[in-house]
Amino acid sequence: METQRMMRPLAGRRILLGITGSIAAYKAAVLCRSLTTAGAEVRVVMTPLAKQFITPLTMATLSKNPILVEFFDPENGAWNSHVSLGLWADCYLIAPATANTLAKMAAGIADNLLLTTYLSARCPVVVAPAMDLDMYAHTATQENLHRLLERGVRIVEPEAGELASGLTGKGRMAEPAEIAAYVAALLGEGASSADATAEKEKTLRGKRFVVTAGATIEAIDPVRFISNHSSGKMGYAVAGELAARGAEVVLVSGRTALPTPEGVERRDVLSAAEMYDATLAAYEDADGGVMCAAVADYTPCEVADRKLKKSDDDLTITLRRTKDIAAELGARKAGRLLVGFALETDDEEAHAEAKLVRKNFDFIVLNSLRDAGAGFRGDTNKVTFLDASGREALPLLSKAEVAARIVDRIERFFER
Ligand code: C5P
Repeated sequence: METQRMMRPLAGRRILLGITGSIAAYKAAVLCRSLTTAGAEVRVVMTPLAKQFITPLTMATLSKNPILVEFFDPENGAWNSHVSLGLWADCYLIAPATANTLAKMAAGIADNLLLTTYLSARCPVVVAPAMDLDMYAHTATQENLHRLLERGVRIVEPEAGELASGLTGKGRMAEPAEIAAYVAALLGEGASSADATAEKEKTLRGKRFVVTAGATIEAIDPVRFISNHSSGKMGYAVAGELAARGAEVVLVSGRTALPTPEGVERRDVLSAAEMYDATLAAYEDADGGVMCAAVADYTPCEVADRKLKKSDDDLTITLRRTKDIAAELGARKAGRLLVGFALETDDEEAHAEAKLVRKNFDFIVLNSLRDAGAGFRGDTNKVTFLDASGREALPLLSKAEVAARIVDRIERFFER
């Protein structure tokens, strides 16, 4: 059964397909067909408005099951239990998901069967948003999507293109084939790495890594310092994921407010110079390094030993360059793995590619501050992987999922 599942991840799987009131509901018919053709058992729950866009008869015929819309059948009083539906499903896929349904899900509103089932579901939940471009870009919708993502809901991002309104932009539901492939990956091979709570296979047992994370602190005097907004969340997630897959991990950590991930040895440092020493020492007997820290590029030439007094004049602090930890590891890596990050605000890919080469990374994880949901502090990230063979752009994911994808790539490095 396991081998069969890897070949045909949807075979025998129970997919609850939720359909909401969007013009993209017509694509749900094709989606349902793709799922059943791949061997999945599909049941369909619709919002009352969804019936205006696609008929229950169409969906019942394609799914080979009666459609569920109301809490009970008005004819005979039979109860449609959202609890048993939620427990029945291996995956609850809501496609199309309107802005209204996403907002209600984020708020925990339960005024129809589709929503009560969301609250009862214990399985992975996937949503494929569909709406007009301005509704999708609206802060309210984006905040709702972030809340759902932080709660573990997976999002198959909409595409850019011509919309039913006649406008052009991002908001068109992803194609049914892409959504079906996403669910297949989630329920198949990718399920273990996509599910942060699952016990991971110890694929990296015997391997040692050094991970840098967080912001460095460059003292100006005993009271003031220069630092940055890095929360350390991405680096901590990578360290935790490596450890969860059996690796020995030394986490060289700048300032963060995070708990140490399970199974990770943490070494706290303050300045870029301290991080340099600790990281180089740990890399000596490591198989690889992942450089997630936001290291200061400049540090004050002199650190005053007493608090600087203010005066009426301007104050000039002269800074000197710090040493580049990643570049140093890159120069001495000798066949070992080295992964870097690039946080850019403009001309992102060109800058990241230059760093890939200059620092001798095997691959670099680019995040742009221009992308909503990427970068500092938040629990989500939107990254692109770049390596010598090309680029791979990932959708908006939780930092735990981005860490899982990074570690999937690290695993592949050691399989070579
Ligand atoms: O050059 P830039 O700072 O943008 O490069 C980012 C990458 O280099 C990150 O992986 C970061 O952790 C690493 N880096 C480093 N030491 C520095 C500066 C950056 O390890 N002094």
